[in-house]
Amino acid sequence: MIVLIVDDDQTNLALFSHMLKAIPDVKPVTMAEPIAALAWCASNDPDLVLVDYMMPELNGLRFIQDFRDLPGKTTIPVVMVTADIDTEVRHRALQLSANDFLTKPVNKTELRARVTNLLALRAAQRQLSTRAVWLAEEVAKATSEIVAREREAILRLSRAAEYRDPETGAHLLRLSQYSRLIAANLGMGTAEQDLLGDAAPMHDIGKVGIPDNILLKPGRLDAEEMDIMRTHAKIGADILRGSTSPLLQVAAAIALTHHEKFDGSGYPHGLKGEQIPLYGRIIAVADVFDALTSARPYKPAWEIDRAVALIRDGSGSHFDPVCVDAFFQDWSSVMAIYEKHRDEADA
Ligand SMILES: [Fe+2]
Ligand SMILES: [Fe+2]
Repeated sequence: MIVLIVDDDQTNLALFSHMLKAIPDVKPVTMAEPIAALAWCASNDPDLVLVDYMMPELNGLRFIQDFRDLPGKTTIPVVMVTADIDTEVRHRALQLSANDFLTKPVNKTELRARVTNLLALRAAQRQLSTRAVWLAEEVAKATSEIVAREREAILRLSRAAEYRDPETGAHLLRLSQYSRLIAANLGMGTAEQDLLGDAAPMHDIGKVGIPDNILLKPGRLDAEEMDIMRTHAKIGADILRGSTSPLLQVAAAIALTHHEKFDGSGYPHGLKGEQIPLYGRIIAVADVFDALTSARPYKPAWEIDRAVALIRDGSGSHFDPVCVDAFFQDWSSVMAIYEKHRDEADA
């Protein structure tokens, strides 16, 4: 362990250094200039500091104060060596969190005993902090495993729904990325973007509850069929709701509200404006844009310009204008996602 000795008197440095060499595993580092010693401490961690009080450049009190202000130096034991019997100095030193004192002339046995005790304390401190770091790493590992499993389970759930739904996996991928992009442009952090991006593929999971003759009908649905088709929002929310998982909670909210419209004319509840959860408003823009620009059993893929015009046109009526603006804010990224994940059928 490294013991830093700071004293302007070379004789003292030699003396203390000699006394400490009798303690096993101790390596004394001697410094005659306190300012140079502080500079050394900025990039080195001693295990203990032995500092003289009376020094011309910087007294022991100032040294302790500046030393404690350096990053990571708050718990390193400090012993002040003083000839001063003034209790005022001792009190000040204690306030500046010195751990112990030695009075000059320093007794060899006393010095060794105090240094040995404080180094044992330091060793225990280091062991504790290593253990804390290790524990934090283990917790982080375990948490990320849980998150990964949750994601996997959800991906498989979405895949099960895909078996029945003509919407392709590429739609889910683009939807996820468009919504992340809108979230980012709205100023959401990456954790929230991830949450939204992971939840988005479950928006239509309720379609597993829609009969084939309606779900797979290669043409326009009549009014009655449309009513049945619209129940997918509620069915999806029923499948996903009631979980303690934030991801499933977001997914449930999205499933329920992705067909609500900003002016209140959507379904299933006719929610208006900010009554619709923000996640639902984001997905609405991303989902409609992607549905328009992809081929579906009942329609070919629209040209980009036509889809853009429809989204702009629906800003404030179908869509939240803030989400529409966020979508168009970074158009080259939208196009990059569009090009990268084109449906095989469209390409
Ligand atoms: Fe839907
Ligand atoms: Fe969709």
